[in-house]
Parts: sequence; C-alpha cells; structure tokens
Amino acid sequence: MSTVTAEAAREHRVTIRTLASRKRKAKPFTMLTAYDYTFARLFDEAGIDVLLVGDSLGNVVQGEATTLPVTLDEVVYHTRMVSRGVRRSLLVGDMPFGSYQVSPEDAVRSAIRLVKEGGAHAVKLEGGKHVAAAIERIVAAEIPVMGHVGLTPQAVHRMGGFRVQGRGEARERVLADARAVEAAGAFAVVLEGVPVDLAHEITAALSIPTIGIGAGRGCDAQVLVMHDMLGLSDWTPSFVKQYANLGALASQAARAFADDVVNGKFPGDEHGYE
Ligand code: KIV
Repeated sequence: MSTVTAEAAREHRVTIRTLASRKRKAKPFTMLTAYDYTFARLFDEAGIDVLLVGDSLGNVVQGEATTLPVTLDEVVYHTRMVSRGVRRSLLVGDMPFGSYQVSPEDAVRSAIRLVKEGGAHAVKLEGGKHVAAAIERIVAAEIPVMGHVGLTPQAVHRMGGFRVQGRGEARERVLADARAVEAAGAFAVVLEGVPVDLAHEITAALSIPTIGIGAGRGCDAQVLVMHDMLGLSDWTPSFVKQYANLGALASQAARAFADDVVNGKFPGDEHGYE
C-alpha cells in the first residue's frame, strides 16, 4: 500500500521536463518562495509547482534592506529546512550575491553545495550575458539553472534603486539578457519588474518558460514572495495580490494571548497536567 502511494507521488513530481511541457501546452504554472519546513509543506500540499528558497530571505526573514548580505551558508540552511517539507514541488535554491560572480568555478562549487547540502533540485542566479559562462558551467555539472533578468535585486546599486527595467533603450538589453540565459542552457527564466509588453515579447521569443513577478500576465508562470501574498510584509509592492492577511491574524492572536495571561484566563484547568 505505502509503495503504491510513494510511486504515485514520484510520478507526479514536478521536474524541469514538467515545466517545459507546460510551456508547450500553454498551461501556466506557479512558484512561491518558502524559507522553512512548515510553509514548504503547506505550499507543496496546495499544489504549488516550484518552491524557491529566495535570497529575499534577507528582506523578509532577516529584516535587511537589501539581499546583498545574504550568505551561501544561510541559503543552504533554509533550503535544507524547505527540502524536508517538499514531496511534489520542484525545489530551487537561490544563489546569493558573491556566490557566483567571481568565476564559473566558484559558481559551480556554490551550486553543488545547494544541491548536496541543501537538497535543491535546481539553482537560480541573477543576470544575463555576464553570467552566461557561470550558467554553462553549472549546467555542465548536471545542475538545472533558472535565470533571472530585468530588475535583479543584487544589482540594486548599479540600477540606482529597485526600478522597473527595460524601458526605452534598455529594452534591447533585457531581451538580449533573456536570450543569453536561454542560450547558456537555463531551463526557465524569472522576469522581474519589466514592462508588460516586453515580458510578452520575451515569452514569445524564448522556448524556455518565463516566470513573471511584476511583469504582467504575458508570462508562462507567476511567482510571488510568500510574505507579500500572505500579508506578512511590512510593505507590499503594487504588483502583488494579497491573498490573506496573516499579519493581522497573528497580531490579533498575540494580543488575545497577552490579554488572557494578564487577566488570568490562560492557562485554564484543562491546559495543565494532573
Ligand atoms: O529572492 C527571491 O525571492 C526572488 C523572487 C522574487 C523571484 O528572486
């Protein structure tokens, strides 16, 4: 009985082949960020296709202003936790700033850590033409790579802030970056903070799936940061749809607990041991 269940689960596992087939069939897929076991389990059970242990953990878990301080050790640690909650979803570990820029050899070493120690099925890195050699080297080590072009948060200082990319003359650069990522062997590419019509054009031009965030509905898939869509962030970007307000629920619960303790209502007799 348990063998049959395990086999059925394996059959339905999302792989990079599943995502390629979704693009061919024009069936959108989903990606959410996750940083721990509990949310990984919930999102996996909810049928989210891809779980990304994003370096956005620097913002939403650590409270940093940018993703730049996040270390490879930290992403490995969170990826390991998420991997324990994953049964069906494809698990992608994000490569943090400094873990792939120095050389393609460094990049492949970092990617191997995410797979070997973190349990990731694939890795993601930011950039276009400049990271093509790193992508090729990681793919040559049999690790699937997801690209990320447009607004790339690790380039915040080069961009002069978190701004939409690909308007005017920059349009050709973002398109060329997306093509370079595909040519280097990536299996999918995140399009972040680009105009809707450009995201549409890139999606039509590439044979690999595009995954949009703040890029409109013309992409093959959509991704959101879990804290934003669950109402847990202290600030929510305008492109986000908030599907729950867990932040308000958590504060309400904490206040109710504090009131009960102060007023002698908790613990009751039923909450103690004889
Ligand atoms: O780090 C992250 O969460 C990301 C997503 C926004 C795609 O890169």
